[in-house]
Amino acid sequence: MELHVIDHPLAHHKLALLRDRKTPGSLFRDLVDELGTILAVEATRALATETIVVETPLERTQGRRLRSLDPVLVPVLRAGLGLLPPFQRLLPTAKVGHLGLYRDHHSLVPVPYYRNFPPLLEERPVLVLDPMLATGGSASEAVRQLKSAGARMLTLVSVLAAPEGLDRLGSDHPDLAVVVGAVDRQLNDKGYILPGLGDAGDRLFGTT
Ligand code: PRP
Ligand code: URA
Repeated sequence: MELHVIDHPLAHHKLALLRDRKTPGSLFRDLVDELGTILAVEATRALATETIVVETPLERTQGRRLRSLDPVLVPVLRAGLGLLPPFQRLLPTAKVGHLGLYRDHHSLVPVPYYRNFPPLLEERPVLVLDPMLATGGSASEAVRQLKSAGARMLTLVSVLAAPEGLDRLGSDHPDLAVVVGAVDRQLNDKGYILPGLGDAGDRLFGTT
């Protein structure tokens, strides 16, 4: 599995604010959005481009444009929705699929409840968006469902990852690319990331 951990002063700064329990919901949403922009730049680094000719107001020159079919963005509901706007701003023609999963509080096993993927998954780069990679169960299930629907070029994008979740993904999906804002220390006995930032969905949507 190819893992990229963002190392950038702006990401460190925003992540520290995001972790702070005193950060209110509106700022939390903005910070997820801003970190999403940094993650999006990194997660799209491998997209193929081709040369094109451009007429500037002064002369003819060469530029580059994306070569592959429009990418597909798949936010994992609910918390993945917080990462969707920055990815859509940078990839305005991207298709958007949705996948509803929630973690059973006792077993921590992901329970699927909604799925709507666009066509031609096999020909498009697919970016799975979920701010939290804890046990890895949800991300692994999301990737499994996308692969069974035909996707082959898959990248998971998360704000925070636990080592346990990365190990799980590496063994379930060795062909996956993963881009994360930081790798934290460990999970607690309830499957929360330590030091973490709490429940991302609850903080994004005010359901605490
Ligand atoms: C959170 C998070 C991930 C999942 C990560 O979702 O957004 O999808 O937990 O945990 P895992 O790696 O152990 O599977 P949650 O189930 O709380 O649903 P929500 O986004 O609707 O709050
Ligand atoms: N989901 C979250 O939102 N936070 C965690 O720490 C673990 C799973």
